[in-house]
Amino acid sequence: MELFDVYSFFDVTPVKAKGTRIWDDKGTEYLDLYGGHAVISVGHCHPRYVTAVTDQLGKIGFYSNSVRNPLQEELAEKLGELSGYPDYSLFLCNSGAEANENALKLASFHTGERRVIAFKGAFHGRTSGAVAVTDNPKIRAPFNSWHEVTFVPMNDIAAVREELSKGDIAGVIIEGIQGVGGIIIPDDNFMRELRQATLEAGVPLILDEVQSGCGRSGKFFAHQWAGIRPDLITMAKGMAGGFPIGAVLISPDFEPVKGMLGTTFGGNHLAMAAAIAVADIIKDENLVQNAYEVGEYLKSRLLSLASEAPSTPGGGNAPGRTFTRIGREAQGAQAPFADDGKTIEIKEVRGRGLMIGVEFSGPIAELRRKLLFDKHIFTGVSGKNMIRLLAPLTLTKDDVDIFIKALEEVL
Ligand SMILES: Cc1ncc(COP(=O)(O)O)c(C=O)c1O
Repeated sequence: MELFDVYSFFDVTPVKAKGTRIWDDKGTEYLDLYGGHAVISVGHCHPRYVTAVTDQLGKIGFYSNSVRNPLQEELAEKLGELSGYPDYSLFLCNSGAEANENALKLASFHTGERRVIAFKGAFHGRTSGAVAVTDNPKIRAPFNSWHEVTFVPMNDIAAVREELSKGDIAGVIIEGIQGVGGIIIPDDNFMRELRQATLEAGVPLILDEVQSGCGRSGKFFAHQWAGIRPDLITMAKGMAGGFPIGAVLISPDFEPVKGMLGTTFGGNHLAMAAAIAVADIIKDENLVQNAYEVGEYLKSRLLSLASEAPSTPGGGNAPGRTFTRIGREAQGAQAPFADDGKTIEIKEVRGRGLMIGVEFSGPIAELRRKLLFDKHIFTGVSGKNMIRLLAPLTLTKDDVDIFIKALEEVL
């Protein structure tokens, strides 16, 4: 049997990993600034994580949700405390898409409506409802197309209010920071207005924190930069060190009804041991704060790459946010490099914590290839022109210096 060939991948075979480093089958060491797509929050193979999962496997790896599992309660308590949502309840599942699917269902059960407001550029996953609220017709099959979804422009509160006024909305779903869409941070004021408008309309606000949650943004959830409290929050990627998991945090306004949601694998013993270990490590090693500090340092070093002028950590219009034009014309950048024979340059650096996008003036495929094969650094991508950095939250300033030196040399 052959693999169903849906992924484009680099010809690298990781066989070992530790902290922010990966080794391939030839013994080459790489610096991981991609975190397996924002999944590796506490670093690869953290000793506490390895011990917790291994010990659990020796006791009981799995049983279904037809019996008591105190590990689920332990995780709920720890996540409640870490995230600042101790009064919310927790539904456990297996992936980000599934978390969003369940949140959309909860919103729809709650309101009795079916139409959803989502945002231009959104990515929420590939299950039926999640892909329907994803702004990419190419990955939506006819089977997924009957959902009623209205996409409105990001930061356009008038458009949201107009749709809400029609009185048929089941829920509004928005990412804490758009990842696939290119590290687009919703305006903090817009988030507050969105919260207000949805409260007035009695429509649940769903925050998709699948990628931006778990401390990645320098706060436990990215929406906490705006100081709002949504009704439903979804999370997944950074939760369990790579063990498949998803979760919905549910406000006390939602009444559980037996059987309304369910899953075979969600909340299983191994997943719980993995997620509890990750929660403990994030807390004990202060990784949310580390993501903020090292993220600021990384952004400032990236800015200084493109300019002689001093960089502005946390610049832009809000703490922890950089949205600064650093193009050649703007700041006298002197760092063009070749991409398929063309010269490109850094246009913008944006992001919060360790969720950072570096947008270039042209395609970055060759740049990424050089970083990987010449400098042995993993990076992510958004569209054609943006490098997406989603490093483990354990990243150090020394790691950043290695990356900046490598990038400089590639330039
Ligand atoms: C914001 C967001 N939501 C949902 C998903 C889907 O998560 P999963 O691939 O675990 O289903 C992703 C995955 O990239 C994502 O970035």
